[in-house]
Amino acid sequence: MSRIPESTIHEIRNRADIVGLVSGYVELKQAGRNWKGLCPFHNEKTPSFNVNPDRQIFHCFGCQEGGDAIAFLMKHDGLSFPEAARSLAGDLNIEIPEERGSVEVGLGARIFEANALAQALYREALLETQGDSARAYLKSRGFDGASAEEFEMGFAPAKWDAVAERLRKNRIAGDLGVKAGLLAERKSGSGHYDRLRGRLTFPIRDVRGRVIGFGGRALEADQEPKYLNTPESPVFHKRTSFYGYPAALESIRRAGRVILCEGYFDRIAFARAGLGEALATCGTALTAEHGAQLRRRAREIVLIFDGDKAGQQATEKALAVLLPHGLRIRAAQIPGGLDPDDYLNKEGDEALRQLVDRAPDALELSIRNAVRHGIATPDQKADVVAHVAPLVAHVADAVSRDEYVRRLALAVGASTTAVLTVVRDATRGMKQTPEVDGASLGLVRDRRDLPEERQLRMLARLCLQHPTLVSDEMALKLHDVLPAGAWKSIILQIIEAAEGGGVDALVMESPLDEEARLRLREIAMDDAPIDGERTADQIFNDLISWFDLRKLTAREKDLKRRLADPEADHEALLKERHTLLLERRTHLRGVRSGRAEANEGQE
Ligand code: UTP
Ligand code: MN
Repeated sequence: MSRIPESTIHEIRNRADIVGLVSGYVELKQAGRNWKGLCPFHNEKTPSFNVNPDRQIFHCFGCQEGGDAIAFLMKHDGLSFPEAARSLAGDLNIEIPEERGSVEVGLGARIFEANALAQALYREALLETQGDSARAYLKSRGFDGASAEEFEMGFAPAKWDAVAERLRKNRIAGDLGVKAGLLAERKSGSGHYDRLRGRLTFPIRDVRGRVIGFGGRALEADQEPKYLNTPESPVFHKRTSFYGYPAALESIRRAGRVILCEGYFDRIAFARAGLGEALATCGTALTAEHGAQLRRRAREIVLIFDGDKAGQQATEKALAVLLPHGLRIRAAQIPGGLDPDDYLNKEGDEALRQLVDRAPDALELSIRNAVRHGIATPDQKADVVAHVAPLVAHVADAVSRDEYVRRLALAVGASTTAVLTVVRDATRGMKQTPEVDGASLGLVRDRRDLPEERQLRMLARLCLQHPTLVSDEMALKLHDVLPAGAWKSIILQIIEAAEGGGVDALVMESPLDEEARLRLREIAMDDAPIDGERTADQIFNDLISWFDLRKLTAREKDLKRRLADPEADHEALLKERHTLLLERRTHLRGVRSGRAEANEGQE
């Protein structure tokens, strides 16, 4: 791949809007100057993931991941540096100068390109004569041309090589079409054919709007299967994908909830009824990865699966996946065994909205449904409790879990103690969701409480916030008094960068090693002003003198040890002690005059 010029990288970094970018993936709330949310890189229940718009960086105090917008995309989407940079450049309309012919774009980007070509073809085909039957089908389900366009529906021609041909014309190899899941290899081993044929198509997109795969619905009664999805690919992972992105993102953010359903037409039915926050799984069961992703975007999930027995089972499976994430979960049962799309067509927008708004607590609903099987005999009671207990065991919060135990006991007419025993047994058989947090990493936090560590951190923050405070004289002094280590090199780097006016660049693309970069990001995130009573200037002097004194004390200690040695040159050592004594006196005078200044300043 040709190199992206340094100046273009600079431009990308300068123009990127990291808060906007990250918001596409994580629900962010403003907290002071930073934005906070649940970290997408580790499992957590309280937000320790911070985004700083001033410095255009993110940092997680839990798992220590961090960096700029490019780093975020690399980590989140598993892209290489040039892929991430190119992707951002595309969003920002920044042109990357390329040497013609030498471009070898990454596999992911080429698959997106192939998918985009297929989507264009499907859209065109729906409008042409060959799309007549598909349009008639859509009409029968209540979609005119405009609504079909709004939901980006298309038609996969009833031919073996429509997509294959389109890719070839655009110089995309058949092998790549296979990797994208659009084509399959002929049994004979020569050539490729289209996977989706004679079907209505739905593009499945990632949160950034790139087409990752397709769903295709049969148009004829005897066409099997009813829905055919393109297979997994390097960009299409069904365990983490939803149908409905990125259209749903804005509504999810606004509503703080996700309506979860099973079908393409169901997701569309919600959107048509004004509930844009609906997402559908793509022909797979809900996974823990789906759950973690939902938790980052919203606090509440409303499950609306089909109103039949299978739907009820799907609801309970989803509950087991979602409850450990601490989500609030409600579930609706659609009367008459209908799905959301049927229900919309039969009862209208308002009825569908009410179904969502009035959906009861999902676990309560499961208790109610289970009790309906009968609780007349001791065995029946035991069966009901045995059925619901594993779900109750998944409830993340201890207080809510207790409450469900009480309600379950009440519903079947059993003692709370007995139900609790069953729930505890169920808990034992479960694997716990790993909760990683900073404290358990024990890495930075322990050290952070040491006084020297605290003062070094404070000093670095001060240098970062007030780079102009540092005079040449102070810089020399710092060189002298700071203990060698990561903080010292960070502080000296900040001072050096400040002279060139490039502190922000240092934070973003620091030449420091990983450990130092991590600390620099942490303090860069912490933009709360340090100054309480004392001014930054005064605190700065205090800190320098604190390190000065520490160094002096260390030297005195060392001297004492050497004086204890009978073999030592005592005359020289006594002279040294005298020098140290003078230094300490000077130090004390400095501290006193510093205090006097401080007192004057306060008057
Ligand atoms: P349903 O069978 O409930 O279909 O499958 P539906 O959504 O109501 O579709 P319409 O209204 O008849 O058109 C629900 C979902 O399960 C997946 C699809 O994602 C579908 O939307 N599915 C279903 C498949 O992947 N393959 C199938 O053969 C059937
Ligand atoms: Mn349906």
